[in-house]
Amino acid sequence: MEVRIFNTADEIAVACADIFSELIIKKPECVLGLATGASPVKTYNELIKRYNNGKLSFKEVKTFNLDEYCDLPRDDKNSYYTFMHENLFNSVDIKEENVHILDGNAADADAEAKAFDAAIDKAGGIDIQLLGIGTNGHIGFNEPCDTFSDGTFKVKLTDSTIKSNSIYFENDSMPRYALTMGINSIMKAKKIVLIATGDAKADAIKATIDGEVTPNCPASILQKHPDAILLIDKAAAKLL
Ligand code: GLP
Repeated sequence: MEVRIFNTADEIAVACADIFSELIIKKPECVLGLATGASPVKTYNELIKRYNNGKLSFKEVKTFNLDEYCDLPRDDKNSYYTFMHENLFNSVDIKEENVHILDGNAADADAEAKAFDAAIDKAGGIDIQLLGIGTNGHIGFNEPCDTFSDGTFKVKLTDSTIKSNSIYFENDSMPRYALTMGINSIMKAKKIVLIATGDAKADAIKATIDGEVTPNCPASILQKHPDAILLIDKAAAKLL
């Protein structure tokens, strides 16, 4: 696991966009694993800037998103479908047919999860997976638990995650369940880049880097990945 520490979130965004740009230029038909939340927003802005400057094209790029809330309409302002379109897809030349976001309203969640993993395999696997991290060490929506998950699955969100993400929802309307890529789906990515900024992530980052590999801190599994890079600011790194 490689750890790079930066002064600002803007510097992280440039470094992260550099990693993605290099791949997209070298392999225009690459497969990207994408993330939501505040952490990747500046990276997406940086990628849009490079697209607008004619330095990048997403015409052949395929994407798979980490997770999606259950029981939330796809066009809700808080769905990850909406987030991805507003923060990246609507501003670049990606083809909608190449965008894959889990359907959190699928009648058969297991079938939806299996089809998603199969689609990733059919696309040739994920070249780079982008991750944020929850304050409890979750990646995607893989919450702390007793065993590492395998493929994509439906998960009950923990109180910690509900507390963190409720700020985006009115009147306690945050969904209690989500579909998420499993730990094994994430670990199969050829390269993984995790972004973390701010004091609130310091405990999770410490456990991820210096702690034992345990499903109690799902991100700690990244210690076992052959090509995982953590891009973090000084606040998130303060306990290292
Ligand atoms: C959510 C997402 C995660 C994300 C995490 C951290 O729970 N499911 O994929 O990494 O929040 O979000 P933020 O970057 O806003 O701190």
